[in-house]
Amino acid sequence: MSDSEKSDLDSLQSQILSQIAAATDEAALEAVRIATLGKKGSISALLSTLGKMSPDERKTEGAKINLAKDAVTEALGARREVLKAAALDARLASETIDVTLPLRETPAEAGRIHPLSQVWDEVTTIFADMGFAVAEGPDIETDDYNFTRLNFPEGHPAREMHDTFYFNPKKETGSEPGADPGSSGAGDSRLLLRTHTSPVQVRTMLSQKPPIRVICPGRTYRSDSDQTHTPMFHQVEGLVIDKSSHLGHLKWILHEFCKAFFEVDNVNMRFRPSFFPFTEPSLEVDIQCRRDKHEIRFGEGDDWLEILGCGMVHPNVLRLCGIDPEVYQGFAWGMGIDRIAMLKYGIADLRQLFEGDVRWLNHYGFRPLEIPTLAGGLSS
Ligand code: DAH
Repeated sequence: MSDSEKSDLDSLQSQILSQIAAATDEAALEAVRIATLGKKGSISALLSTLGKMSPDERKTEGAKINLAKDAVTEALGARREVLKAAALDARLASETIDVTLPLRETPAEAGRIHPLSQVWDEVTTIFADMGFAVAEGPDIETDDYNFTRLNFPEGHPAREMHDTFYFNPKKETGSEPGADPGSSGAGDSRLLLRTHTSPVQVRTMLSQKPPIRVICPGRTYRSDSDQTHTPMFHQVEGLVIDKSSHLGHLKWILHEFCKAFFEVDNVNMRFRPSFFPFTEPSLEVDIQCRRDKHEIRFGEGDDWLEILGCGMVHPNVLRLCGIDPEVYQGFAWGMGIDRIAMLKYGIADLRQLFEGDVRWLNHYGFRPLEIPTLAGGLSS
């Protein structure tokens, strides 16, 4: 090889190395690689001249060209690493996240849980912890389940107290041969909007064998409307049936429930005799409170506030629901969900619960991802 050839190769190599050094990104570097080592690249072109050389020449020339090729390959690799690292640094710098910035609320988080849904969840959480299952029934009930099997005989004055919404009577079918002889005709077949959640007791006893421990939260309806009554409202029923449960157990359950629900260490309760056709004895329960203009506190004060009705399930009810009252006994209670929601969260007018005013909901509602638990706090 002549000196000039040698210097040609040297200068080609140093020219390529400086191009490599000058490449500012991976694309530019790739262009250099193609122009040198690619099929039509300058170094590849030199290598293709080897074929025409004599074996001796090929040996020496080939070695030199391959040295140059190795030097270029190595420089390309080294430069690629540098550029890659620089690109990663730049990306990391541009994508930094300031974790101290406050989160913008997503639309799902901006919504609010209605206080009634919240209280419904709180109530089921507390009773589920005591071992109660949740039972449900339809809003449209039969007269039989809503009244008759709960020991409200036909024509009993307690029926009148319920301001019932009745559906039109069904067409008379009682005279057909094979009609249910137990049905007393139009009265039994007339559908209604359930006036309380107690018919779910009937459904539960008819479909399950004791021991029974259920709560039945649900919608109820009465033809009534003022500051403390709405035509649709909510109740939660409780029912325990086995061979030995008595009023002492009921008192304990209600006491534990009130402490957990109102989130206080102690609640004083008063049990007053009352009347419900489906319980004997029947009781009404008041809780002690102090009321001033804007606030109500439980466990102190000299006011009493009625929160629920309860009692031992009447033997007639057990019998009408297929349970032998000589073997089984139990207790039940019924409570207004709207009422305890208003008490706990300081809502003055029952009707506000159903007006669907978004401003009201933003104030009284709960954050959607904060689900009530006994461990984490019911309403925190
Ligand atoms: N059903 C009654 C009402 O709506 C409430 C009630 C009272 C339910 C006593 C019960 C009970 O289960 O034992 O007024």
